[in-house]
Amino acid sequence: MVLRIYFLFFLLFGLVACSNNQSENDVLPPETPKEKGTSLFIMHCASCHGEDGKLGASGAKDLTMSKLSDQEIEKIIVNGKNAMPPMKVLLENKENIDLVIKHVKSLRN
Ligand code: HEC
Repeated sequence: MVLRIYFLFFLLFGLVACSNNQSENDVLPPETPKEKGTSLFIMHCASCHGEDGKLGASGAKDLTMSKLSDQEIEKIIVNGKNAMPPMKVLLENKENIDLVIKHVKSLRN
């Protein structure tokens, strides 16, 4: 009988421990695709283009004035252009490139 109570106690303790983990996840939700596009841009592009796209360091174009299509932006990201180095390896995959393209277009006025 006593053993049974201990067993119940540990079972309950286990449940509480699990539910604690759950609430930690609530505090730190996973990045949404939009947030990921923003943080990739800040990490890999903002040094020349600025967080708002207007910095223009090393002769970078003002992205808020850019009229390029998704395909044209992708080509520049993949191949680079003049002083802009190819960024494909840094962005790792097509999914990340697409997220960054969306972010670049969201900077336009
Ligand atoms: C080392 C500095 C540098 C970095 C880092 C950089 N760029 Fe650029 N970017 C440039 C320069 C310089 C140009 C202008 C190229 C030209 O036309 O001569 C440019 C042009 C562009 C253009 C073309 C704009 C237009 O309308 O002609 C896009 C789009 C662009 N960059 C996006 C990005 C994205 C997205 C990233 C990050 C993945 C990035 N760049 C990282 C320097 C940089």
